Amino acid sequence: MLTNTNTLIMQAVNLHQRMKSLAKLIVICAFFGTAVQANEGTFEKANNDVSNKASLQRGARNFVNYCSGCHSAKYVRFNRLAVDLDLTDDQVTQNLIFNGGKITDTMVNNMSEADAVAWFGKAPPDLSLIARARSTDYLYAFLKSFYLDPSRPTGMNNMVLAGAAMPNVLWELQGVQKAVYEGEGGADGKSVEKHFKGFELVTKGKLSPEEYDEFVRDTVNFLDYIGEPKQLERRALGFRVIGFLLLLFLLVYALKQEYWKDVK
Ligand code: HEC
Repeated sequence: MLTNTNTLIMQAVNLHQRMKSLAKLIVICAFFGTAVQANEGTFEKANNDVSNKASLQRGARNFVNYCSGCHSAKYVRFNRLAVDLDLTDDQVTQNLIFNGGKITDTMVNNMSEADAVAWFGKAPPDLSLIARARSTDYLYAFLKSFYLDPSRPTGMNNMVLAGAAMPNVLWELQGVQKAVYEGEGGADGKSVEKHFKGFELVTKGKLSPEEYDEFVRDTVNFLDYIGEPKQLERRALGFRVIGFLLLLFLLVYALKQEYWKDVK
């Protein structure tokens, strides 16, 4: 009997040590996880909020007016938008469907890939999952980074995606900006290394810079939402599951204390 209890205790001690190393491993993983995340943060934050329905509605409007001529969002169905964005089917049909499509259609467009390649040199990608592929911060930066570059066929280039085949479709709203560099041409005539300093507005747009930021934020918000329409529900469910597990942990821990109180 005594040996039995002894082995039991040995096993418990063993398990305790293993749990300790597991905890260490988790801490190390968490540490590296945050380090990797910190590395990703080279872009200005988009700070969009997918729970903001008004912003999503504006984003949907922006998308159909300024992007859907070239880009599809073929995994998104209009009637799903109606439900998620608190719009009626009629509101969606009147304001978001331009090509005579039906409310049950997906957001495809009529541009053929061959035409797109002939016109732009590259087919515009489908944007259904772009926020997940590139991150919202990237999209926010991308839409704010078109600048004058006479060497490009469109007259514009993009600081985030150099040589982008996409024309600067939002120039009327944003205005036209040029890139300003530091350290251009040394005093001795020798060229020194150039560093990008920032953008300078050369021609004013219809929107002020702050209004333009909001416009882009709403558009990115919409792209974030279509990347995973269920994300709000998923997050809410995540909290509930963690809450349940915590509660369960307390119960199980209390039970363990009860079982072990005579063993020591
Ligand atoms: C006139 C056609 C046209 C319109 C309108 C247009 N785009 Fe594009 N877009 C393109 C093309 C072409 C590419 C491919 C660019 C490349 O890979 O060089 C592209 C690429 C992109 C990319 C991918 C960038 C990357 O990193 O690969 C994103 C994101 C994007 N567009 C967003 C938008 C958004 C948002 C709008 C609306 C505000 C929009 N586009 C409007 C033609 C268009």
